[in-house]
Amino acid sequence: MSSEQIRKLFLDFFEKRGHKMVPSSSLIPDDPSVLLTSAGMQQFKRYFTGELDAEKDFGGKNTASIQKSFRTSDIDEVGDETHLTFFEMLGHFSFGYYFKKETIEWTYELLTKIFQIPPERISATVFGGDETVPFDQESFDAWSKLLPPERIGKGSREDNFWGPAGAEGPCGACNEVYVDDVEVATLVFMEYYCRPDGSLEKLKQKGVDVGWGFERLVATLQGTENIFETDLLQPLVSKIEELAPKLDERTKRIFTDHIRGIAFLIGDGLRPSNKEAGYILRRLIRRILGLQTKYDVHASLFLLLLETISEKYSGFYPELKNTDNIFKVFEDERFRFQKAIQEGIAEIEKRAKKSEEIDAKVAFYLYETFGLPLELTLELAPEELTKNLKKEEFDREFEKHQKTSRAGMEKKFGGHGLVLNTGELRAGSKEELNKVLRLHTATHLLQQALRDVLGDSVEQRGSDVTAERTRFDFSFERKVTPEELKKVEDVVNQKIKEDLPVKFKEMSKSDAEKTGALYFFKEKYPDKVKVYYIGDSLETAYSKEFCGGPHVEHTGIIGKFKILKEESVAAGIRRIRAAVE
Ligand code: SER
Repeated sequence: MSSEQIRKLFLDFFEKRGHKMVPSSSLIPDDPSVLLTSAGMQQFKRYFTGELDAEKDFGGKNTASIQKSFRTSDIDEVGDETHLTFFEMLGHFSFGYYFKKETIEWTYELLTKIFQIPPERISATVFGGDETVPFDQESFDAWSKLLPPERIGKGSREDNFWGPAGAEGPCGACNEVYVDDVEVATLVFMEYYCRPDGSLEKLKQKGVDVGWGFERLVATLQGTENIFETDLLQPLVSKIEELAPKLDERTKRIFTDHIRGIAFLIGDGLRPSNKEAGYILRRLIRRILGLQTKYDVHASLFLLLLETISEKYSGFYPELKNTDNIFKVFEDERFRFQKAIQEGIAEIEKRAKKSEEIDAKVAFYLYETFGLPLELTLELAPEELTKNLKKEEFDREFEKHQKTSRAGMEKKFGGHGLVLNTGELRAGSKEELNKVLRLHTATHLLQQALRDVLGDSVEQRGSDVTAERTRFDFSFERKVTPEELKKVEDVVNQKIKEDLPVKFKEMSKSDAEKTGALYFFKEKYPDKVKVYYIGDSLETAYSKEFCGGPHVEHTGIIGKFKILKEESVAAGIRRIRAAVE
């Protein structure tokens, strides 16, 4: 049975039983409580709570989907026989309609009738109960009609209670379904809303969230030893073997998993960066590049695999059709990292020669200086040098550094440091830094928008950005009217919506002046300056300013821009305070 047939059989089965097909949502969720989409239920969170109406939005009470999913929790396990970062999930969902009996009967029917699994290979577990949530008698009874008692287990809160996805959300007791010893499906019966403090509140309606790990199911149905031998992943493994026949099993699997994950993440619009989901992508790419260098694998590996992935998946996921764009993002990151990684490896080799230990401090130095993530250092350095290197200690180094070192941030972001023509940027933590970057870029947009609306007499007279707000002083003779302020706000939000790239070019001060970029007359600039511009090219950019950075990489992540206050600070000088949400 091919993986394509399995997709179709699954969707047809549930379509016939009253489910509306819903396409996969993006791997980049609109739910701020998670970094990446990690389950099929995620796009339906608000249908489970009753806030949204499935009948209105999808034309039915029940839905089915094949969802692209990404989990970082298993990243260190990738390389064994069962773990992946990116995977697909076959799912069916009900929002206040059928419940346990139907779900369990369908699961059994699908396995035995459609997928032809002999009943004696099937087993299940149900929630055994604890002090807050009772034993799941209803599931137990339903399974008892299908399986002998010795193949129905009772499990703990840890194994048989699912959710929430993220900090809060719907959750409930679940059944796990096994074929032989492989877990193929999780049947979640949504009955509670878990608040951020962990307490449970009954949902208004009962829901069903069933997820089948696609790769594992395909391996089970194709009878392969493991997921890498299925018709989904085998073509990728073969390509790797052609290029690098001597690689060990684990490394081949890491290449397979990560390259597929990278292709899907970039395909959904994610870009490598130093924060949040972008940092996950950066780490995946850098790990691939590190392994490629370590094992001397030809640089065409990514492109060859990408083409195979596109052939295999773009029928179902059209975002994988355009491989040029995905390749370009990968290549840009490769270019950025290449030099650093060679230097990092040289540094590791130097230490290895002298048998010098690599502890958390050294590992952090390698990260700071060459951009080598911890896992890459662990992978590249001889094991005996890193046996005392613990992740917790590395994380502690990281935090210590983030709290205290402004100098470190300067290095990371380059340029003339954090004392800028916009005043001083102050950030004490990663979250604050994030906010500051968004507000800093918003301040550039604000200056240009003010000039658009009020004319070129607007010039910067001062600026101060904190994690809470930006304060921008500028020359203007009178009070700005509420209508004008609204216009300015709208222009900034429009530019945010256009999701313009934010880039810089470094050049001599005199060349920079010729570009027409704005600068702050009071500031003393060095001979070489950076011109930050917002737009596709320096020539056509919406905003250009002399600036040391740092900024966000594109305006879309700034969020909603809001002017809080406008007032006078001196004759002919106005002050605006603004925030982003
Ligand atoms: N939410 C459950 C899971 O992700 C079932 O879909 O496993």
